Amino acid sequence: MKILGIETSCDETGVAIYDDKQGLIANQLYSQIKLHADYGGVVPELASRDHIRKTVPLIKAALKQANLTANDIDGVAYTAGPGLIGALMVGASVGRSLAYAWNVPAVAVHHMEGHLLAPMLEDNPPEFPFVALLVSGGHTQLIKVTGVGEYALLGESIDDAAGEAFDKTAKLLGLDYPGGAKLSKLAEQGAASRFHFPRPMTDRPGLDFSFSGLKTAAANTIHQQEQDLDEQTKADIARAFEDALVDTLLIKSRRALDLTGFNRLVIAGGVSANKTLRNKLAKLMTDRKGQVYYPRLEFCTDNGAMIAYAGMIHLKASQFAELAIEVKPRWPLSELNINNK
Ligand code: KG4
Ligand code: ZN
Repeated sequence: MKILGIETSCDETGVAIYDDKQGLIANQLYSQIKLHADYGGVVPELASRDHIRKTVPLIKAALKQANLTANDIDGVAYTAGPGLIGALMVGASVGRSLAYAWNVPAVAVHHMEGHLLAPMLEDNPPEFPFVALLVSGGHTQLIKVTGVGEYALLGESIDDAAGEAFDKTAKLLGLDYPGGAKLSKLAEQGAASRFHFPRPMTDRPGLDFSFSGLKTAAANTIHQQEQDLDEQTKADIARAFEDALVDTLLIKSRRALDLTGFNRLVIAGGVSANKTLRNKLAKLMTDRKGQVYYPRLEFCTDNGAMIAYAGMIHLKASQFAELAIEVKPRWPLSELNINNK
């Protein structure tokens, strides 16, 4: 069985084809980063218009890449939420309409379930159960995962998401949007000892996060430097910020592992591309005689492959979308739970 997956929830148009026997057989991605860079963030209306331009050409390219025609496709999956409503509408309208025209089922995929299952595309996929740390531009969540459709939210950010904190701090350091990866690169040149930022909410019990205070601490330090904000100082601030954020994620992940008793940790979402985070969590899991799992770098950030994969699981379980074109800009992952249905 082959499924076409379409991702248009934010600023990446992703299209992929997943075959349940051969695995991923096509993957196409167009990033709108350049389009939004001048504005310092994603402009929703521009994002929607660009998805309109790119989605159909990428579908054609994916079919060509896999040497297939529309007749070979057994289902169409698209991201139905959470995300920007206009952007979601593009993928959902194209995906739902193609499924109708091709007379195959449509599958409405939850973007964060896509991220969560992305490590399943790798050679050594995690078995259930595991703790998932989902860290993207819009979400920071710890989830107890006991199977597909069995997601218990353990904790989440009460304000900025981890990626958002990275991007806002990067902007204060004069880096282009989205600055997460650029800040991390700059931090490599920084000294760990010069500045120290708080590890928010780690001194009290619980698994929720708060990153807006950390961003403010970085902002205050940047402003205090005034004329002295040279490249080395910027790198030192980037280093202190990254260390504080990564340590916070590590402390809460460790707590979630203690609470559940699980020894597998999945990290996914854009921030899971962060090298310091990967290394520190890998060490944490080695020390605990467990294992950490993450997607390859290109599947940490938004992509069509994870949507095609999640779509295949729902296709096989006969969980199809209605005929109506429906998107959910806000959509708690727990609504997917099989026990709720
Ligand atoms: O999952 P994603 O592509 O989009 C959302 O669903 O939000 O995540 C994008 C986020 C951005 O905030 C970006 O700055 C961050 O992931 N990011 C990183 C790195 N690569 C991407 N943050 C820190 N270090 C990185 N290497
Ligand atoms: Zn995402």
